[in-house]
Order: sequence, then structure tokens, then C-alpha cells
Amino acid sequence: MFKIKVPATTANMGPGYDVLGMALTLYNEFEVEKINEGIETVGFGQIPLQENLVYTSMKKTLDFYGKKADGLKITAKKIDIPMSRGLGSSATCIVAGIMIANKLMNDMLREDDIIRIGTEMEGHPDNIVPAATGGMSVSIYEEDKVIHSKVNVPKNLRFAVMIPDFTVSTNEARKVVPEKYSKKDCIFNISRVAMLVSSMNSGEIEHLRMATEDRIHQPFRANLIPNIDDIFKASQDLGSKAEFISGSGSTLMAIIDEKNADFEPKMKKFLETLEGNWKIKVLAVDMEGAMFF
Ligand code: HSE
Repeated sequence: MFKIKVPATTANMGPGYDVLGMALTLYNEFEVEKINEGIETVGFGQIPLQENLVYTSMKKTLDFYGKKADGLKITAKKIDIPMSRGLGSSATCIVAGIMIANKLMNDMLREDDIIRIGTEMEGHPDNIVPAATGGMSVSIYEEDKVIHSKVNVPKNLRFAVMIPDFTVSTNEARKVVPEKYSKKDCIFNISRVAMLVSSMNSGEIEHLRMATEDRIHQPFRANLIPNIDDIFKASQDLGSKAEFISGSGSTLMAIIDEKNADFEPKMKKFLETLEGNWKIKVLAVDMEGAMFF
């Protein structure tokens, strides 16, 4: 009947906790087919239907508009985004579920409705917005509205994602983030977020290292990711422009120039010396966001 693909996303990008996010060229793909009756899900492992995020997001959306789905088979065709690693795999399921519901309702929702519903489900917009629209964005989530704006990412930047075999639960990682900050730390982060957006837009790549510094969440989450300091140091030694925790982790990100061909093989060697079965992939920015194909 139809297929849908949704990109991975890297949220926060250092200082932009719950605000900044960017889509990456790594995808989950789902297929929806008509069957005689009932709802079947295939390829999602042992997850029961009521806990399947594609299904529950579709159902909640349909319920809200007073519609029902029946006679559908949803297949996880290609799952390239590892779960609970800070690469927005939940957001791909939520966005896919809402877009499937929308298709079943003859496309009555606009992109901003999909973003609003998805953000309500996820609780923060920084994965949902780029998963739906592609590119890098700034989002404000307030009073059930999501206001978002695109940031230009210089074309020569690539994003080396370093993914360990251990997971970090976003729920747990949100619990270690404090409720209160000093004025000094607020100014520190405000200045970095503003500088990050400005440097991306202007192409002032030399500012990225400072612009990705953070005092809101990374210092508290670093304990959840063994070897983070060594990996960041090795990345810097290999010429990366900046490093940060992708989303709530466990994936670590290094921003590199497209010409830095040595980074991937050398970092792979270094990662092999560490516990955690770390893998590396060098990705670009996805510009399309979720789409039917
Ligand atoms: N902004 C969220 C967090 C992203 O850091 O908790 C989680 O995917």
C-alpha cells in the first residue's frame, strides 16, 4: 500500500537541551499493507502491539479525530537506527505512526499538526521537528504549540556518530539533569546556543568547538557514558571541529570536515581498544525529513 522512511536525529547538539536538533542520513523504514481484518505488526521483535510506538502513535492520532484503523499490516522493513542510543529512534516511530494515521485520514493533517501531536507524545520537540522536516532546527514548545525555524548547516560538515553497544534510557538520563542553575551557567548556555546557530548559519566553523559547550545536561550525563572524555579527546586529536553527546546518549558525536578522510578509519581503530563494542558511522545532514516513498 505505502512505505515511509524517517531519518535519525541528533538532539541538543551540546548546549541546546530540548531545543536544537538535526536530521541525519540514517533511516528507519516502515511498510503498510491492507489485510482482511485486524492489525498486524511484523519485524518489531517481541514488542506487544499495545507497546508498539508506531501502532500506539497511529492509534492515538486516529482516536483523537474519532477514526478507527482495521485491516492493516505494519512492517518494520529496515531498522538502521539503534534504539535507546540518542539517535531519535522513538521519534521515527512516533512520526511514522502519525503519518500513517494521516494517510488513513486522507491527508487531513498539515505538517505542523504532525509536529504538534508528535511533540505532545514525546514531550520535547528536538527530535520530532527534524525527523519530520529534515535539516537542523531550533524549536520552542509552549502551550501546546511548536514554533520551529531552520538553521543552515555548512555543506562541508559531516557527523561522525560513535555508537556503543550499551544503551542509555532517556527517562533515566533526564532524571540526572538538575532543576536549577546559576545565572552564570544560564548565560554560559545562552551564549553557546546563540553562537552555535549563528556559526552554522554563517559557516564560521572555527566557532563550533566553543559553541557546542554545555553546562545544562552533559556534565551530569557524562557519568552514564564510560570513556566519553577519551573519545572526545581522540576525536579532537583527529581533527574534529566539535564533539557532543547525541540526544541523551549513549551515542557520541564528532563534527568533521568532509575532507577529513582519516577520521573514520583512525577513530574505528581507537574505539576497538575500548570496552563497549563502539561502532562509527560518518553521516551527512538529511534535508528531506520523513517521507512516503
Ligand atoms: N532533549 C532530550 C534529552 C533528547 O536530552 O533528554 C532525548 O532524545
